[in-house]
Amino acid sequence: MKKRVLVVHFSQTGQLTRVLNKALSPLRDARHIELVEARIQSSENFKFPWDTIKFFDAFPETVYLDPPQNMPLKIEDEESFDLIILGYQPWFLSPSMPMSAFMLSYQAKKILNAKPVITIIGCRNMWIEAQKTMKELIGDCNARLIDNVVLIDQSGPIESLITTPRWMLTGKKDAFWGLSAAGIKDENINASSRFGERLCEKLKGEITDEPMLSNLGAVVADARFVATEKIAKRSFRIWGALIRLLGKRGSKARVPVVIIYVIFLFLLIITVVPINMAIQTIIRRLFKAKVAKMLLNIEKPSGR
Ligand SMILES: Cc1cc2nc3c(=O)[nH]c(=O)nc-3n(C[C@H](O)[C@H](O)[C@H](O)COP(=O)(O)O)c2cc1C
Repeated sequence: MKKRVLVVHFSQTGQLTRVLNKALSPLRDARHIELVEARIQSSENFKFPWDTIKFFDAFPETVYLDPPQNMPLKIEDEESFDLIILGYQPWFLSPSMPMSAFMLSYQAKKILNAKPVITIIGCRNMWIEAQKTMKELIGDCNARLIDNVVLIDQSGPIESLITTPRWMLTGKKDAFWGLSAAGIKDENINASSRFGERLCEKLKGEITDEPMLSNLGAVVADARFVATEKIAKRSFRIWGALIRLLGKRGSKARVPVVIIYVIFLFLLIITVVPINMAIQTIIRRLFKAKVAKMLLNIEKPSGR
């Protein structure tokens, strides 16, 4: 019998769609696999490129998992899949709103119930906190995460603080002023077909709880971001709670506080983040073994 694999994903610029097309192309041609692809459609049109205020005004609801609803996915026999692949991107260190809307839906509870799940993430470089939330959402659907693949942008951590917002707010992705282009390198997208090739092999047998994508460089966690993400997520939650008291997303009453938060975030990035990164470098050198163990845990289930 053919293995039924469902891929559910959302992509605003089409980047993650390209990643999934490449990664899953071997599954499409395999005789022993039926691949069903479902693209999430939000009831809200998340316009790209983003308007600056709308972009930042989206963080409170993203972090508090309070997204607009999605259109139901049109899938036949939705409870009969052998494997579910979820393609998502972090927004503000949380799963993007269209993906969290799916995960919170009754339909997701039905589709994912008791199923093995693989997550495929395409993002700037900060995915650790989002994946923590995603694991909880997967658990809430009574499903189990067996693999995780992460593809990150080609610009470094500092460069991408400029190149990613420029891409999101203007739509311009190209290299400029000596900085790399925004987004995931074509080379890395193309190389992701290795995941599909491995899955084709593994899906000839039984699917267990063991990871199928080990030793393929699926996930490399960067120690520099662990504490930074934690601090930033906490700040999103504190400011997000305050902004949500002022009104619904899009309401004028929120705008002044959103602007103050953007200024605060900018100051945080140019002051606290470098200091924190320097402290983290010292800690990493002092506690090499502990940090290595922590990264191994974060990289589970698939690992490097
Ligand atoms: C509102 C918003 C917030 C984002 N926040 C993060 C983030 O916290 N971490 C990260 O690595 N990338 C972040 N990104 C970048 C996305 O994860 C992703 O790389 C980009 O949106 C392109 O994905 P897509 O076109 O496939 O949807 C954010 C993008 C948007 C639009």
